[in-house]
Amino acid sequence: MSKINILSATDRPGSMALKVSKHVQSKFDEENVETEVISLSDFPIMDVAGGKYGKNIDSVTAFNARVLDCDGLVMVIPEYNGSFPGILKLFIDYLPFPEAFNKLPIAFIGEAAGAFGALRSVEQLQLIANYRNAYLFPERVFMQRIKSIFSEEEGIKDGMTNKLMNSLVRNFTDFTERNKHERERKAGVEA
Ligand SMILES: Cc1cc2nc3c(=O)[nH]c(=O)nc-3n(C[C@H](O)[C@H](O)[C@H](O)COP(=O)(O)O)c2cc1C
Repeated sequence: MSKINILSATDRPGSMALKVSKHVQSKFDEENVETEVISLSDFPIMDVAGGKYGKNIDSVTAFNARVLDCDGLVMVIPEYNGSFPGILKLFIDYLPFPEAFNKLPIAFIGEAAGAFGALRSVEQLQLIANYRNAYLFPERVFMQRIKSIFSEEEGIKDGMTNKLMNSLVRNFTDFTERNKHERERKAGVEA
């Protein structure tokens, strides 16, 4: 059976992305899929201050290994200024190059206050994931007007969004299972 990690792609305290990530985890639980939720609030940002690109930083290596120790990755992405959060790009810029996302199945969920549900953020991130040779899962979910359609207590209150999320969870599980043999887990990453 595959292991799927769910990355909450912001470090904002009290983030909706983390709440959505936990909710999505509960949907994977129903499919009996092993998952781990990881938040970019745990990315060791202080250790990269000053621009330590290409240097071996133990805390960053350990964080990267935790994220990449999976057969498939779901990214839950808020929209910040028409894009994805800066901390996510920083995280990606400190991943081992070129192997980190190579042949890794990745699914994308956007959430935003606005009407487009982080469509822009997801599509910008997909360009990068594609550049890094990930296997992009084609079903995406855009959670628009997040505060009205989702709460921690009630989950996804919009029927269509809930249906799309269930489909993503079920089909991404299959997609990961089909593609996982192409990639060694933790490929190229030494914890
Ligand atoms: C720095 C910042 C920039 C934002 N920019 C946008 C935006 O461009 N479009 C939008 O719809 N919402 C924007 N929002 C609102 C967030 O998308 C929304 O509050 C979302 O739920 C935040 O996710 P989070 O709780 O995981 O941080 C922004 C929020 C922040 C903190």
